[in-house]
Amino acid sequence: MKKQYYVNGEWKTANHFAELHSPYSKEVIAEISQATREDVEEAIQCAYQANSAMAALTAYERAAILEHITQLFTENRVKAAEIIALEAAKPLKYALGEIDRTIETYKFAAEEAKRLTGEMIPMDAAKGGAGRFAYTIEQPLGVIGAITPFNFPQNLVAHKVGPAIAAGNTIVLKPASQTPLSALFLAEMIDQTALPKGAFNVVTGSGKTVGDALVDSNKVKMITFTGSPAVGIGIREKAGLKKVTLELGSNAGLIIDHNVDLDEIVPKCVMGAFSNQGQVCISLQRVYVLDELYEAFTERFIAATTQLMIGNPLEDTTDISAMIHPDEQVRAMNWVQEATQNGAQLLTGGTVENGVFLPTILTNVASTLKVSCQEVFAPIVIINRISSIDEGIAAINDSNYGLQAGIFTKDIQTAFTASKKLEVGGVIINDIPTYRVDQMPYGGVKESGTGKEGLKYAIHEMTETKLVVWNQQ
Ligand code: SIN
Repeated sequence: MKKQYYVNGEWKTANHFAELHSPYSKEVIAEISQATREDVEEAIQCAYQANSAMAALTAYERAAILEHITQLFTENRVKAAEIIALEAAKPLKYALGEIDRTIETYKFAAEEAKRLTGEMIPMDAAKGGAGRFAYTIEQPLGVIGAITPFNFPQNLVAHKVGPAIAAGNTIVLKPASQTPLSALFLAEMIDQTALPKGAFNVVTGSGKTVGDALVDSNKVKMITFTGSPAVGIGIREKAGLKKVTLELGSNAGLIIDHNVDLDEIVPKCVMGAFSNQGQVCISLQRVYVLDELYEAFTERFIAATTQLMIGNPLEDTTDISAMIHPDEQVRAMNWVQEATQNGAQLLTGGTVENGVFLPTILTNVASTLKVSCQEVFAPIVIINRISSIDEGIAAINDSNYGLQAGIFTKDIQTAFTASKKLEVGGVIINDIPTYRVDQMPYGGVKESGTGKEGLKYAIHEMTETKLVVWNQQ
């Protein structure tokens, strides 16, 4: 089925289409409009013209539009999840979970729209401030260029569209080439709301054409990007004076102390390592277990992993399905091979069966190997033995990335020390680093990115603080 793209409240047809294949069945599931640079410039112009209508909306009206989006997602929950399962091969149970989170994300955006305040400035704290009073207001930036990844095709879009609307901005969205259908489904829903025409646009096509046109345009005031460090760094270099928020990858690590309950933590760890085939920026990639528990933890982790159901993402019992592209499965296999050729032991997985890269566990992995030091973005986890918590902290910090890290411990001092010393954007005590709810601040240090998402924090990134000073004389 030929899919149009969405600009200025209208469906547009491009001159060229590209086939979209299911990552699991490899069947053609749609033909996607490939916008040209001129098409993108038209979308930006429409968003630009909609700035004044958007800025004129009251907080109440912006919140009502966002509430309407939550209502439409609630009504279309299963359909929206099936689209994700079809185009991204995310197993249906996780796709449904993503839609539930999407609903919450827009709900939080609606609530935050009503809390967008500035602050009073105590002017007379300075000698020259006597007789003045001042306050700040948070004003929308204007056109936001949003470039989103395939791994959460609705909720990571919501993390850009929700705060942009809450703050009174307009948006041109470029969804990942493999997951345009979710973004176009969102457009169908937004089309039913009172959002001014042109305030939300979805342009499909290649990253090079659409992404570059957004980054190059003087009318776009901010780029909000989730994806790979290489692309993110390229965007920052080209963005000039635009604001840029980058949510990039990581090789998230977890420390397991000797005093924890394995019954409680093993299922969480298996889910953190393998949900969505490990294609999550905070997927559990590196586990460091203290000597005393290493054998027992590893044994139980392998046992739980081999129970996972492999297969069709549209079946509700499936835990693991195909990775996003066959080339990615080949890359994952090559990385596993590099590890085993350099001293690591393969405990399970490492191969493709019926088009699915099997959940893979490695141990004794040197920190210089790709499966440890780079972002694997595949269902691969390493479990290494450590003899002290400090060794685990040092291992996690020995990384170019720093998004989230976790520690399971019953010792409060250990938890405090880890929270201070771990070089990451978020430390999760007594849970996996994959833990996220959508209102919390989310963003990394080092090559994991700059800026924060989480509605309140993203809204702050998407506004300009303006100062107003009154002279009372
Ligand atoms: C991500 O992959 O960056 C998002 C993870 C999440 O929202 O759970």
